[in-house]
Amino acid sequence: MSVLFSPISLGTLQIPNRFVHSATYEAMATETGEVTEALVKRYRTLAKGEVGLIIPGCMHVNHLGRGWKFGMGIHSDDRIPGLAGLVEAIHERGGKVIFQLYHAGMQTIKDLVGQSPVAPSSAVRNPVSFAKPREMTEEEIEQTVAAFAAAAGRAAEAGADGIQIHAAHGYLVNEFLSPFFNRRKDGWGGSDVNRFRFLKEIVEIVRRQLNGEKAVLVKLSSNDHTPTNGITPFLAGVYAKWLADLGIDGLELSCGSSLFSFMNMCRGDVPAKEMIAGLPFWKRPVAKLVFRKLVGKYDFTEGYNLEAAKILKPLIGKTPLLLVGGMRSAAYMAEILEKGYADGISMSRPFVREPLLVKRLREGKTEVASCVSCNKCLAAVANDRPLRCYVKGFSTEL
Ligand SMILES: Cc1cc2nc3c(=O)[nH]c(=O)nc-3n(C[C@H](O)[C@H](O)[C@H](O)COP(=O)(O)O)c2cc1C
Repeated sequence: MSVLFSPISLGTLQIPNRFVHSATYEAMATETGEVTEALVKRYRTLAKGEVGLIIPGCMHVNHLGRGWKFGMGIHSDDRIPGLAGLVEAIHERGGKVIFQLYHAGMQTIKDLVGQSPVAPSSAVRNPVSFAKPREMTEEEIEQTVAAFAAAAGRAAEAGADGIQIHAAHGYLVNEFLSPFFNRRKDGWGGSDVNRFRFLKEIVEIVRRQLNGEKAVLVKLSSNDHTPTNGITPFLAGVYAKWLADLGIDGLELSCGSSLFSFMNMCRGDVPAKEMIAGLPFWKRPVAKLVFRKLVGKYDFTEGYNLEAAKILKPLIGKTPLLLVGGMRSAAYMAEILEKGYADGISMSRPFVREPLLVKRLREGKTEVASCVSCNKCLAAVANDRPLRCYVKGFSTEL
């Protein structure tokens, strides 16, 4: 049997195979962040499709951390029953689920959070809205660390098998880690150790909160691809080692920061027409120029974070590494595991198109995901339209 179908442990959590559904914002929750029947249906289907571990779309830990209009919230206790329903749908089908906890930092807009977005520093202007974020006070930083702990407690109460701290893609935790975003000179910036402190305190408090009974994962960017050096694979290696020393149960490796290098995270076509369609008409001419410049710059290559994984893997000892980004053919995925470059295979877009992909791979009905990385699903959610495969003539199997 292929190594892809061998079990793996993430801390105390047993996963029946090596496939992970990487967190994917669905634009399917209510505007107040509640779980809907459409979300439950999506994740029930993925569990039916035998995905070993399911990580639903990012969930904001407090109101100020809300980055998406129709994203799920885990910021208050009254969200627990809805989240429990989501967990139950996955567990009923034999699946495992962990929740991705995030704070959007400067990657949100005033319209969504009712005030100026916050960041470690106010130095970097949002290149899309042109707004400068407000620098967080130390008190706010401590409150946000506590918000992650409270959210982890709610995840446990809802029955989730663990949590993942979203430290990638330019959101708040990533901003603290990155010398590009974080220009602080106090105890939260100025050196790698200080820039790591925010994530370190979150990991420690969340682990205490979950008492070793639930898995604690981190999603990290191997490269921010910001205009001046942010996280590079070398710095990611330093942070990865420190995370392993803290005792996390798994590290998922990605890349890119949404505001400055959106398409590095999701290499493939740049769906300029679809991205622009959702903007107010007065923003379209400039957006057209911006997106036209991006076309052809992020062409799809299989396993585009593999080189970074090769650097990080030897630094993190026995901590399992989950690799995401352009995993498409079973033979390639198996080779990565066999060579020891990673321990698990994470995918996002392929599951949007084929939720039953893992089952079909196991049954030998297919060898390669049929996702064409057109990124129309990404353009849709960015414009508040629900997640599905938007390739013409294709209807997502259920
Ligand atoms: C529509 C869409 C929504 C996404 N939402 C999230 C998210 O909520 N959290 C996250 O960490 N990554 C998110 N990502 C990134 C994916 O998890 C993944 O890292 C990336 O798509 C590369 O993997 P792939 O080639 O298998 O699609 C999203 C990607 C897409 C296409």
